[in-house]
Amino acid sequence: MAEEFELLPPTLQNILDQDSLKWIFCGGKGGVGKTTTSCSLAIQLAACRESVLLISTDPAHNLSDAFGQKFSKEATKVNGFDNLFAMEIDPTSSLQEMIEQSDQSGGGAMGGMMQDLAFAIPGVDEAMGFAEIMKHVKSMEYSVIVFDTAPTGHTLRFLSFPAVLEKALGKISSLGSRFGPMISQMSSMMGAPVGDQQDMFAKLDSMRAIITEVNNQFKDPDKTTFVCVCISEFLSLYETERLVQELTTYGIDTHNIVVNQLLFPGKESNCQHCNVRHAMQQKYLKEAHELYDEFFHIIQLPLLTEEVRGPEKLRDFSKMLIEPYQSPV
Ligand SMILES: Nc1ncnc2c1ncn2[C@@H]1O[C@H](COP(=O)(O)OP(=O)(O)O)[C@@H](O)[C@H]1O
Ligand SMILES: [Mg+2]
Repeated sequence: MAEEFELLPPTLQNILDQDSLKWIFCGGKGGVGKTTTSCSLAIQLAACRESVLLISTDPAHNLSDAFGQKFSKEATKVNGFDNLFAMEIDPTSSLQEMIEQSDQSGGGAMGGMMQDLAFAIPGVDEAMGFAEIMKHVKSMEYSVIVFDTAPTGHTLRFLSFPAVLEKALGKISSLGSRFGPMISQMSSMMGAPVGDQQDMFAKLDSMRAIITEVNNQFKDPDKTTFVCVCISEFLSLYETERLVQELTTYGIDTHNIVVNQLLFPGKESNCQHCNVRHAMQQKYLKEAHELYDEFFHIIQLPLLTEEVRGPEKLRDFSKMLIEPYQSPV
């Protein structure tokens, strides 16, 4: 049967070409090559955009390991590049900070309320952290932001927050405007400084506004896309399909799948292990093509004989995102 569609080029060039993209997520299971892919993609983007920020939200941070340079929660220029910056953040830490801050400033009651809120809505702490990141990042004006995200499940939770949180915060801030004056009267009678409540409600409200905006941006395929990273094995492909389906339910664009760590033993290779694995990988690769060819770019990356660490190796590796790897047959 003739194919009814044209095969999409097997590279990430489409991302470099799509100038309007502002947020690019790289996600998949741990160990498949998310960090390697996101670093490589950021390197390629740095060559054609004014400035690129690479953010790791994976608590098992490894941008530092990949580049061999210590990063922190402040954006830091990556050695060897003029316009590539990186930061590692823990999306769950920011609510904790907010609670501690309000405790220090004497608003113990408010801190308590925030703590209750954090426990009442699962995931609210991460969402708050997320809002903080966005506020921070938006004020920095990078051309494009690449996320090295946490393994599958977490990533998705993270992306569904805006909707959940928007609802919750909407309720709270409308309560705030109705009962705020009364609450603050009561707590000032009990010795808490006046204005803390208003501060907190104002803070919640501005956070809600940011989250709404971020949510809109993430659902806009001109601005946001998700690059799925996997390896050619049953479980990994199964996870990828789940990821694709969930992204679709959230309305987040995805049209690239990176298949990493492929083995290409030479024809004469007598490594039985390599040949058997190669055959297995090719079988799943074929399935991936059958499933995704119509709507996805499928990018194949070879398993190298050494780790991809340091700016030079990453730079070399990143070329394979753009020029399809030719297996030495
Ligand atoms: N194609 C590859 N060839 C050789 N080593 C690789 C390849 N892809 C990733 N690695 C190495 O495997 C390890 C895990 O990759 P990484 O990108 O950190 O995965 P993840 O971020 O998904 O956990 C790293 O040490 C990395 O250098
Ligand atoms: Mg990683």
